[in-house]
Parts: sequence; C-alpha cells; structure tokens
Amino acid sequence: MTAPDRRTVASPPADSLLALVGGTPLVRLGRSAPGAEVHAKLEYLNPGGSVKDRAALAMVLDAEESGALPPGGTIVEGTSGNTGLGLAQVAAARGYRSLFVLPDKTAVEKLDALRAYGAEIVLTPSALPREHPDHVIAYATRLAKEIDGGWLADQYGNPANPDAHRRSTGPEIWEATGGRITHLVATIGTGGTITGTGEYLREVSGGRVEIVGADPVTSAYGGGDGSPFAIEAAGQYNHPETVDVSFPPVYRPEILDRIVTIGDRESILTARALARTEGLLVGGSSGTAAAAALRVAREAGPEAVVVAILPDSGRAYLSKYHSDTWVRRQGFLDDDRHGTLVDLVSPVVTVPAGTSVGSARSALKSSGQPALPVVLAGRSSPLPPAAGEVLGLLTASDLRGPAEAAVPVPTVPPVGIGSGETAAEVLARMDPSVDVVHLVRDARLAGLVTVGALRAREHSVRL
Ligand SMILES: Cc1ncc(COP(=O)(O)O)c(C=O)c1O
Repeated sequence: MTAPDRRTVASPPADSLLALVGGTPLVRLGRSAPGAEVHAKLEYLNPGGSVKDRAALAMVLDAEESGALPPGGTIVEGTSGNTGLGLAQVAAARGYRSLFVLPDKTAVEKLDALRAYGAEIVLTPSALPREHPDHVIAYATRLAKEIDGGWLADQYGNPANPDAHRRSTGPEIWEATGGRITHLVATIGTGGTITGTGEYLREVSGGRVEIVGADPVTSAYGGGDGSPFAIEAAGQYNHPETVDVSFPPVYRPEILDRIVTIGDRESILTARALARTEGLLVGGSSGTAAAAALRVAREAGPEAVVVAILPDSGRAYLSKYHSDTWVRRQGFLDDDRHGTLVDLVSPVVTVPAGTSVGSARSALKSSGQPALPVVLAGRSSPLPPAAGEVLGLLTASDLRGPAEAAVPVPTVPPVGIGSGETAAEVLARMDPSVDVVHLVRDARLAGLVTVGALRAREHSVRL
C-alpha cells in the first residue's frame, strides 16, 4: 500500500473563530465506491461541527447590517440542534444572548453542547402540528417578539440561509473539483444547503451539474407520505393534524433535478459503514446523503464526479445511530447470532386514539390478538405505525368501561422491543408485570409478542 498524500497547510492565525467557518475539504470515498469518483464534503469540520455554521453566521451578519439584531440583543431560533450550535457559537463570539426552542426528541448530546456555549434552552414536544402554539417554530417566534432586543433567525424563511451556500459551499465545490463535478447530492432540511449550493453549481456549469436531493423515504420532499422517519434534521415530517404542509420558503424545489429516497435502515447502516470503512464518523443525514451518492454513482458510471454534502459529525449521535443497543432496539440491525424476533409476529390490527371502547372490544376479539395497540389519531400512512405513534397497548381488562367512552390512552408510551434484540435480553429488561409487548422493526410496529413466545425462543436458542 502506498502512503496517502499528506496535505500540510500553514495558515496565519485567524482574527476570530468565525473566519474559520466554511472552506471544508472534500475526501474521496475510495473504499465505499472503488472505481467510481465519489467525494464527501466534510461539513463536520466547521468550527461549530456542522454545515449550519455557514447559515448561522450569514444570518447574524445580515441582521447586524439591517439593524434587526441590536447590539447586545438576543438571538432566538427554533432548531433541531445544529443551527442552534452555529448561532450559539456566533452569539458567544460576538456578545449576544442566545435562546433556543428544541423538540424534546433532540439527542441529549446536542442539548449539552448548546448549554456549554451559554445558550438557554426551551424544550417542546416533538410531535405537534405546526399550528400548535407550542410547535418549535411558533414558540420561538412568540419568544422573539416578547423579548426586548429579540431577533428570530428564522432559518426556514431567511434568504441569508441559502445565500450562505450560494456564496461559499457552491464555489468551494466547484473550485475543489476543478469544475469536474457532475452530480451534487445533499439532504433537505430547511432546503438552504441544496438550494444555494445547487443554484450556484447549476449556474456556473451552464446547467451541466445534476442537482440531486437525498431524502428519507417517508419525507414529504421526495413525495413520501410525511409520516415519521428516524433521521434527525433532514426531510419533512407532517403531523396528521398539520394543515399547512407547504415547504419552507427558502427551499426551491425547481433547483433539483431529482430526489433519491433512502430508507432509514440504509441511511443508518451507511453512516455506520462510513465510520468503519472510511474512518468518517458522521450523523444520520450524512448516511442518507452518502447512500444516495453511492446509488447515483453506480447509475451514472465511471465518468461521473459525485459530491455528497455530509452535514455533521457522528459524535452527536453516539447514543443513537452509532449505538449497537439503539439500532437493535429500533430494529435497524438484526441479531445475526440468534435470528430476528420478527419471525415471532404477524401483521397486527390497531385502533386510533379516540375509538370507542365498544369498537375496540370487537376489534380485539375478532383479531384474536393478545392486545390492541392504540395509535396516533388521524395518521393515514399505509405503512405500519412508527414506534413513536404507538400510544398504548390495551388488553381485554383495559376495555371494561362503558361502550361509548373513548379508549383509555396511557400517559406513558409502552416500551417496545427491537427485532434485533435477543429473547434473553428482552426478558431480562422487561417489566415483570407485562405479558405482551410490541415488536419494532425499522422503527415501526411489526407485531405483538407474548412473554410465553419469548421464553420459548430463549429456550430453543439455549438448546
Ligand atoms: C444534520 C443535518 N442534516 C441536514 C440538514 C439539512 O440542511 P438544510 O437545512 O440546509 O437543508 C441539517 C440542517 O439543520 C442538519 O442539521
């Protein structure tokens, strides 16, 4: 094996950390795509750890210039994490207070990092319709108005977000590939990255560069049903009660030539593979972008020069995508020593919250199931309910009330088991008073399993 070319570049000291935002390198995914030219743009090498440093800095500079953000003011944003980190970093470096509203499913590492920058945090439930006053964006908008000197960054509507990419990410990729890039692949969260980078590359190449969105299968951007997916910060989820399902104002779908949809399992396993085969520890949306880029490269042939934007580091997801326990409990990885628990279950009948006790009793009886899962009302996806949409498991004894009353919904959601766990592990961690649990595969409800069936499986494995 020949030694890799080492780059040693000595730059003069930067006046501020903010001068180090952008200018991230491209690295070839040589082991994942041998014989093809696929490059990853390593956005986790930005000082705040993600692609959002670019938009955060650009939005603050723009607001300073317009006077929208007064000296010593408060930067407010509703964010799933990385924009908050970028803004918190700028706030610290330029003397502002910062306050963020985040969905409560945000990885704990991201919350701790925000607090470390001195930011204040407000958590709000993840699964709320956009119209709800406590929805992340509605809540942040309200706070920004109420606080004296408050300014809402508004990454979904602020033109400085895509502009940052038009002025930095796009030109960097063009220059780094010497104008050879043929395909740009990026995920779509606010749409700022793909809109700005795509606009620049399309223009500079005279329309030659193909702009490809990479999107979770159920995300609304790629034509999915808007039901939940496991990838943080990419894609568009639409809660069943959300009325306004429009796309963010900064996203310009007409910039894209096409969208490649990637299942959660493929995104997560690709992110894990990048760490193991390339030494790139990246997040879930990077897995989505890389999986799409590898697919694009396979289809386009050896002449293609594909660039995938990898938005952030895997450090923020050590307890999620990079945790063996988490992937097995979510059913993204099967236990190859003992076989998957999926062969213990068959498709399951569910009822939406709000169903009457009378109809639930008949559904339970005619299904012959040991329990009846109650799921989020109004969901219309043909796919099985997502794990987070399973609100409770009702047995016959829970359905003894008056027939016209609505079914009881437990305040604490039931603990499911993952198709990648072993029967022994599940039995060891199960609440002893429970005798039926729901099984999760690909983070969706796969069926019901009784303790009896788990014991029998454990017994047969031991033989
Ligand atoms: C991890 C991660 N992936 C993807 C995206 C999507 O980027 P954009 O909002 O520019 O579309 C974001 C944005 O917050 C992100 O944090």
